[in-house]
This record gives sequence, C-alpha cells and structure tokens, in this order.
Amino acid sequence: MAEKEIVETSEAQIAVHWQEEAYFHPSARFIAQANMTDEAIYDRFRLENFPNCFKAYADLLDWYEYWHTILDTSDAPCWKWFVGGKINAAYNCVDRHLARHKNKTAIHFVPEPMGEKYEHITYQTLYVRVNEFAALLRDFCGLKAGDRVTLHLPMVAELPITMLACARLGVIHSQVFGGFSGQACADRIVDSGSRVLITMDAYWRGGTLLDHKKNADVACEVAAKQGRAVDKVLVWQRYPGKYSAATPLVPDRDHVVNDVLPKYYGARIDPVPMPAEAPLFLMYTSGTTGKPKGCQHSTGGYLAYVAATSKYVQDIHPEDVYWCMADIGWITGHSYIVYGPLAVCASTVVYEGVPTFPDAGRSWRIAQDLDVNIFHTAPTAIRALRKIGPEEPRKYNYHFKHMTTVGEPIEPEVWRWYYNEVGKGEAVIVDTWWQTETGGFLCSTLPAIKPMKPGSAGPGMPGIHTIIYDDEGHVLPQGAGKAGNICIQNPWPGAFQTIWGDRERYVRQYYERYCKDPQSKDWRDWPYLTGDAAVEAPDGYIRILGRIDDVINVSGHRLGTKEIESAALMVPEVAEAAVVPVAHEIKGKEPDLYVSLKPGFEVHDGLARKVSDAVCDAIGKIAKPRKVWIVKDMPKTRSGKIMRRVLGALSNNQDAGDVTTLANPDIVDEIRRMVQG
Ligand code: PRX
Repeated sequence: MAEKEIVETSEAQIAVHWQEEAYFHPSARFIAQANMTDEAIYDRFRLENFPNCFKAYADLLDWYEYWHTILDTSDAPCWKWFVGGKINAAYNCVDRHLARHKNKTAIHFVPEPMGEKYEHITYQTLYVRVNEFAALLRDFCGLKAGDRVTLHLPMVAELPITMLACARLGVIHSQVFGGFSGQACADRIVDSGSRVLITMDAYWRGGTLLDHKKNADVACEVAAKQGRAVDKVLVWQRYPGKYSAATPLVPDRDHVVNDVLPKYYGARIDPVPMPAEAPLFLMYTSGTTGKPKGCQHSTGGYLAYVAATSKYVQDIHPEDVYWCMADIGWITGHSYIVYGPLAVCASTVVYEGVPTFPDAGRSWRIAQDLDVNIFHTAPTAIRALRKIGPEEPRKYNYHFKHMTTVGEPIEPEVWRWYYNEVGKGEAVIVDTWWQTETGGFLCSTLPAIKPMKPGSAGPGMPGIHTIIYDDEGHVLPQGAGKAGNICIQNPWPGAFQTIWGDRERYVRQYYERYCKDPQSKDWRDWPYLTGDAAVEAPDGYIRILGRIDDVINVSGHRLGTKEIESAALMVPEVAEAAVVPVAHEIKGKEPDLYVSLKPGFEVHDGLARKVSDAVCDAIGKIAKPRKVWIVKDMPKTRSGKIMRRVLGALSNNQDAGDVTTLANPDIVDEIRRMVQG
C-alpha cells in the first residue's frame, strides 16, 4: 500500500534518531499528594479481572439508577457499558458539586485582549447559566433528548455552557472546531441531522476580531443544498448586548441568544436521567475517505472513563487550577477541558487566542495570574513556545506540579525543554496517547507510580491491554524491537460506540482487520485497530511512531489526505490530486499537495492559489497546503496507482529510491527538479 510506505519511510528515521532515554522519577512531594499511588491498581485491572475492574470508575459518578450489567457484548463490536444505569452528565459536572463547592471557580475564561478582565465562573453561576440555556434550548428551540444539535463555537465560556445545557436535556451535541470552514460545518450538520446551529458572532485570534457568523451563513446554505434545512441559528455574542460581526442576521432564522435568554432567567430544568449507553455527543474526525466520521460517545461509560483518567492521570484535585490548552472543538477539549475536569470538580481554564500572541510570555503569564498548577498541551505548542521564547518561563512566577503532552510524538529534546524550563524541573510529565475514537487515554504513565521516559507514552492504562501485530497478524512480543500495528485487546468504557449512522464502516475500519470470528459475541475476538504504528520496549513502554493510514497529523490535528484531495478535485482544472506529509519543525507535519490538470488546461497564474483556497474553503485554514505543485503527470505504478511514497520522498528532500518499475519513471526527475531545485 503506497500510503503505508510513506509512514514507514519517515518513521524509520524517527526510530534511528530517537535513542532510548533514561527514566525520570516523580518527586516525593508529588507522590505525597497524588490521587493514585497504589501500584496494585495494575493488578486489579488485569485482563482476568475484566470487565468488573471498571466498576471503580463508574463509582466515581452519581447515578439515578445503578446499572445491572457492566458490559453487554450482545451486539459485538458495539459495546454497551453500565447497562440499566441512568445518569446525567451535566448533573455530574455541575449540580453535585454545589453542596460543597458552589463558590469555587469552575471555569476561568481568559480573553485574548490584554485589557479585558478574566471571567471567573463559579459552580453556582455555571449551574444558573446551564439551566437557563437548557430552558431556552427546550422551550424556544423545542429540543429534546436524542435530538442532535451542531455547535460551531470558538473558545469561550459559552461553549462548555452550551455543551452542558445539551447534556442536561439529553440532547446530543456535535461541536465543530471553530477554525473549520462553513462548508465543513455544513457536512457535519447534514450527517448528524441537526436542525439547530449554535454559533457566536465573533472571536479574537492573533489580534483580530474575526467575523465568525459568516461561517454559519455558508453552513446553512450548503446544508440546505444537501436537503438539510437549519430552522434556527442561535448566535451568542462575544460582547453581550453588542453584535460584533459584519455579517447581518438572517431574519426569522438567526436569534441572538442574549435577546432571547432574559425570558428564561431564573429557570431551573431537572436534569434528564439518561440511559448510560445513550449518546452524549458526536465528534467528527478524519479517516481514510473524504467523508469525516461522526464518532458517537456514550454518556455513562465515557463520563466514567474521563472522570477516572482526570483523577488518576491528570491528578486533578478540587483545589487544583487546571489548564489544558487544546481547543474544545477537538476530543482533547471535550474530555480534558470540559467533562473530565468538571466531573472531578476542578477549576478549568478556557482561553481565547493563541499561546504566542501578543508575546512569547502569554502562556506563562496566564499560569502566573491564575496560579495554574496542572498544565496540558501538545508538542506543537511546546516547540513553538520554545522557539520564540526559550527563556520566557523563567520570568514568570508559577509552579506546575503536573504537565501533559498529547496528540503527536514528542522529540526527547523538546520533552527535556518542557521538563526543565516549563516545569522548572519540578513537574511530572505524562505523555498521553489516545484518539478521538477512544474517548480518553490509552497509554500513559500513572504519574506517581511509573517513571517518565522521554519520547514514550508509557504502558497501557490500567485496564487497557495493548497488543502489537505485524501485517500478517502475528503478535510482536514485548521488546521485539519491531514496529507493528498497535491494537487494544479489550473494550473499555470510554471507547466510542459506533460511527454515527454507519455501523458497517465502524466494524470495517476498526475491527475487521484482526477479528478472529465475525460472528463472535466475545470481546476477546475483536481487537480494536488504532491505525497507529508502535514499538513496545522491554519495559512495556509504548513508543508511537505515527499513522499507518491516510491521516496526517498537523500540529496534533488530524487531517484526512482524502478530504484535502477531494477538495482539490472540485477545482475544474484539476484531474488528479495527491497529498503527502512533509516534516515541519514546529507543526510536526504539513500537507504538500500535488495536482495534475485535465487535458486542455494549462498552468496559469493564480491556479495554485485557487487550489489552495478550495482546500481552505472546504476544510479550514488548518488544512492549507504548504505548497501546491502542479505537475504534468503523477508518478504511477503500471496498474495506474499514484505513488505517494515517491512524492513524499521528494517533498521531504529525500531520495525517491528505485523508481524503475514505475509506468512513467521520467516524471520523477522532472518533479524532483521542480521540488528540490
Ligand atoms: O497518531 C496518533 C496521534 O494522534 C492520533 C489521534 O488523533 P486525534 O483523534 O485527533 O486525537 C488527538 C488527541 C488524542 C493518534 O492516532 N497521537 C495522539 N496522541 C499521541 C499521538 N502520537 C504520539 N504520541 C501521543 N501522545
């Protein structure tokens, strides 16, 4: 498979480049206060004790009705956890904390403009705001349990408030990353069958107040063409009482939340007790086709898993101030800004803008101002902060006890800067490997129990039993020193339930490859394929090498090469398109886009720009190709398959290898001259 070869080429280098590292140990001070210090947890979560071991996670939550069956496998591989249980996610994240913590800050909102004050929303205020907005959703929009609603919100406190209001009613939210385009939002509206879209007029990013409302207009227009009418667009205002977008409101369709909300002031809505296996939200992610997949996450299992991992891996105590820098539009934000931290009564930070604006000290100033002591970010942000201000952290008075890295492999030298400069040598680091599909962490160290090893995520989490297969299905034993396809042997409560509306794709993509018996109702026959390549060291620590499929990880964000290619193919001149990942110092990877033209079309000024714009319109700026190369022909096998491996090598300034067996080897030299000069 050509795509796979690309991964092998670039990852082989990583393997050579990254030597095994020494262990780093947590301080006695950290261990003394940690939530989980009992090594026997790994025994309690051994496979022999599966699935009953996960009862301990369910017991971190409050249930209206306690469940009777911990794991129902009758519809394998669609697993149902905590069956018979009734629960409400908003109740667990808000109401239950009021008795002891109503005056504690639940959400710190940090606006981008320096002159604006931080907002500190207590659990009591969060309770009031969630109730009022839930009343509006129910009575003004007519939403009820099981309905889907699309959110296209930026990083503002109104985003978790909206999510929790939905959860209170049992309405399934589908938050689309704020940086995605209107078209991308439309695809998700159509697929989820939403008739309500919730957005915001504007938000700040890098010094500009962006008109965000315009994306809602595109989204509604495109969705309507696909047969999905949006009846209502609810528009939060970045500055309540003042409409900040240039795009006008559409009469009858658009409603400013702040105009409608006063009708519901003081409203209290009883949380709806939902079956544990009822969907809580959809999170769309990229896969191997042009169509994003709506990962469907459950209420009880998901919440139990993110609450437990927030408590034991993030080591969150109610007195901690916790800042995860991710965007809530990605799974990291859902699990580890909103649901996990709030379920364990943290103060969680929601910040607007980017870490590097207005200056290199922004992150450390926020940490100092709010006395953040748990910090969570991605290698891309660490690389960028290190580049623009290696000395900056020293200038600020903050102390982290705990730090996380997530989303991409972290180079050991970047890890060490994070440890020494950002963590000031005091904080533990957890490298958490997981995915949109998995709801929560798969591999990580438990920070007070297992030492850290730069560049390795660590062993499977308690109750997560990894297994690495080669392409033929043989198990690669621990310490084999070979990379293979990492799978999880058993289900776990945080795992997604299916792909929204496409069970067949769910089974095919995640379970078919290593399934032992497609008729089986036994979970042992259904290893979960993660789509990552990994090696397991003799100590059981897992090092993730990257994707084995057509997914590119740009700045820790997942992009499907097929989605980018489909967008390029919408340009009338374009006949063929191929995307390959190019190594980037800060972002990890960037997409390079190769296109060839239909007969009769010539390269003209502005064509590359037109193709690039088409990609940004279809997906968003994060998918913008580093470069659009317009080539006469693509290098192809004799059977006509585009050799992405060859293009990948050329883009990365590497040797393309033996190309003599190609149908058109001459084109390789021509492209090399174009790309490498
Ligand atoms: O390739 C792995 C990489 O990110 C992919 C999942 O992306 P997404 O669904 O967007 O979720 C990101 C947040 C969890 C994985 O298949 N990945 C994630 N975490 C790590 C990682 N690669 C290496 N190390 C990690 N810690």
